[in-house]
Amino acid sequence: MRIQAKQYSHIAEIYNQLMLSVDYKNWADYIYEICEGYALKPDIVLELASGTCVLANHLSPKFNKIITTDLSIEMLKQLSCTNTNSVCCNMTAMPFKNKFQFLISAFDSVNYLLNETEVEKLFTEIFRLLSPEGIFTFDVSLEPNSVLNVEHLNREGEYKGISYIQKSEYDTVKKLHSNNFELTFNDGTIITETHIQKIYDFNYYFEVINNAGLYVSECFEAFSFDDADENSERVQFIVKQCE
Ligand SMILES: C[S@@+](CC[C@H](N)C(=O)[O-])C[C@H]1O[C@@H](n2cnc3c(N)ncnc32)[C@H](O)[C@@H]1O
Repeated sequence: MRIQAKQYSHIAEIYNQLMLSVDYKNWADYIYEICEGYALKPDIVLELASGTCVLANHLSPKFNKIITTDLSIEMLKQLSCTNTNSVCCNMTAMPFKNKFQFLISAFDSVNYLLNETEVEKLFTEIFRLLSPEGIFTFDVSLEPNSVLNVEHLNREGEYKGISYIQKSEYDTVKKLHSNNFELTFNDGTIITETHIQKIYDFNYYFEVINNAGLYVSECFEAFSFDDADENSERVQFIVKQCE
């Protein structure tokens, strides 16, 4: 039997294995350093598109409380999410009324918003949820990352009795990066999931952020404190509300 599944449903079961090479501890330290740089002492941290909450687990000793959110209930149901309070929701329409000092999103999650209307909705939500002294920090993948790394993302393996094949493609005209996963289960069922990311121009982010009443306080080459530009592979934005 062959089934086309929705994005981040079945891949959730092997996500942590696929991400084994990602140094989430170092990533958490970097995000914490950004928070310290703004002298923030947030009561509650809100993470958007937290996936299986591995980053939140590394951050949790440093903060009072973290609320993790994701569109995929299957990702949130993974064991690594049991330490945090999780809410299944779309980052473009979040069910919160209170404001937060520190909002975060990691690992290209904003690239999953496939059109400009969705990105505009996200920053409208950020404006609504951010406290006046607070920051939203997130990373995005830019075109150099897709062009340089597309080949490396073709891989296959096996985990927990599930064999997987990943094929990655970048469409330079539509600026869409797709990752197709084929998962074969012990009973012979084959499930395919297609994950698509939109690769927006570097300058577009500044425009959409400003239009939402926010501004880019800093924009770094990810994992560093060096200024980013359009040649960067992944960039880390720090966004604040205009006064
Ligand atoms: C590449 S994964 C990153 C997960 C996690 N941040 C990490 O670092 O491992 C992208 C995540 O974005 C989530 N996602 C995609 N679109 C979303 C949306 N509109 N709102 C909330 N989460 C979304 C997916 O379900 C997935 O868990």
